[in-house]
Amino acid sequence: MDSLLKLTLTRRELLKAGAASAAAAAAPSVAFAQAPDEPGRSPVMTKVAFEVNGKPETLELDTRTSLLDALREHLHLTGTKKGCDHGQCGACTVMVDGRRINACLTLAVMHEGDRITTIEGLGTPDKLHPMQAAFIKHDGYQCGYCTPGQICSAVAMLGEINSGVPSLVSEKLTARPKPSAEEIRERMSGNICRCGAYSNIVDAITEVAGRSA
Ligand code: FES
Ligand code: FES
Repeated sequence: MDSLLKLTLTRRELLKAGAASAAAAAAPSVAFAQAPDEPGRSPVMTKVAFEVNGKPETLELDTRTSLLDALREHLHLTGTKKGCDHGQCGACTVMVDGRRINACLTLAVMHEGDRITTIEGLGTPDKLHPMQAAFIKHDGYQCGYCTPGQICSAVAMLGEINSGVPSLVSEKLTARPKPSAEEIRERMSGNICRCGAYSNIVDAITEVAGRSA
């Protein structure tokens, strides 16, 4: 009996200790989540230097600034669009050292020394990039909001195909993928077009892929 009582007490103590340590473990994350709203707390600023569309840029930024906000709000390159700001629509797609990324999902300070290309760096109204010209030719946009992201994504995506990077629909992992409509649709699936211009977008990309193949 004695040992049963002892065991019961021990279990109670254990549960109490467990609850206390769970509360202690939760406390720092609650404090962390609330930290940015604390009145009087100043943002942490830092310098970041990178190349944007071939031009060196140095910015003094709040360390929480996304690359998308650095481009749009600080460098006024508003060609790159903010759709969802959560990595779900692809409107903010830019190229970093030739690879496409969602600029809303990365902090500007993570790109020290990187080479960033936005839609403004691909072509000019007088001298369009072939992908821009193909989007116009094939009516690859309606409202155009997703278009800069679609074009940046398409240019980098063809680079991926040309360098042999496989996708989920590639028949073989080791063979060079072909820019088929299926490959293009799969690889462009991170870029949402609410107007539904998809078939014209695929036509535009297919034409450029044919040219560069
Ligand atoms: S704004 Fe970045 S993915 Fe939607
Ligand atoms: S053209 Fe309107 S969202 Fe794509």
